[in-house]
Amino acid sequence: MLKLTGETTVVGVFGDPVAHSLSPLMHNRAFAELGLNWVYVPFHVKPDALGGAVNGVRALGLAGVNVTVPHKVAVMAHLDEIDEEAQAIGAVNTIVNKAGRLVGYNTDGRGFLRSMERQSGRTVEGARVVVIGAGGAAQAILCSLAHKGAASIAVANRTIEKARRLVGTLAKVFGQEARSMEHGSSDERKALSEADIVIHTTTVGMHPRHDEAPPISVDVLRPETLVCDIVYNPRETALIRAARSRGCDVLTGEGMLVYQGAVAFELWTGTTAPDELMLTTLRAALDQRS
Ligand code: ATR
Repeated sequence: MLKLTGETTVVGVFGDPVAHSLSPLMHNRAFAELGLNWVYVPFHVKPDALGGAVNGVRALGLAGVNVTVPHKVAVMAHLDEIDEEAQAIGAVNTIVNKAGRLVGYNTDGRGFLRSMERQSGRTVEGARVVVIGAGGAAQAILCSLAHKGAASIAVANRTIEKARRLVGTLAKVFGQEARSMEHGSSDERKALSEADIVIHTTTVGMHPRHDEAPPISVDVLRPETLVCDIVYNPRETALIRAARSRGCDVLTGEGMLVYQGAVAFELWTGTTAPDELMLTTLRAALDQRS
């Protein structure tokens, strides 16, 4: 049972909307488990109030906050420092208050990688990786793939220019080579047929678009291929179902949500996050919703 005292440390999340967020549940459960006198609060922050809200972190001495839609890019202008990965991604999802200095991080990509390693036991090293999509989520994941020893990285997107730009950023900022290709092209089919890991990052199949066909044809995949979908609502997308029936290993999106939170938890508290507990808490909440 949560007990607020004069010494309770406060963290939270800034979003608009924020009522749907499962992060308070996940983090508060983790604080209680570790006996930490911390509390995680949802803050409904409208875009025109973002600057004031960030100053509030300083003024009220919050230990940090998560930042979610639609503030991940706009918040950067209000911070004192932004770490290299968040800068390359061009978005911040976690702020840490270091004695009044607000530092921005992005834990999405690291969260995805940790989810993949812990939940499917696969690593990027030596793997042929195909990322479908070139939006904000793809950018976060691709930046954290850099220097992890992938045999190859391909980025396929409906709008090819965005894939090209992203591949350019990877080369410029990290010296990481990657190929860009058009979503639905024969190049993409070939890359998929050779892939060890496929990571789907587009909004296809995401609630309320449940009924859409899978964004790729799984017939070209080898059964050894790991198929990851970062969409967590619904818990099983059409792509995950199709990949499973093809015999592929699959990874659903709830893991990325949990582990981006676990990395933020560790940045704030300096303590290893109870990630298994966070995962079961999140799963129970998602089950209740569906
Ligand atoms: P996020 O921040 O969640 O990644 P985003 O930045 O809006 O969201 O990116 C959405 C991604 O889904 C993009 O790669 C987008 O492709 P475009 O760059 O061509 O817009 C992709 N996407 C959305 N709807 C799609 C569809 N029907 N078919 C293929 N790709 C789609």
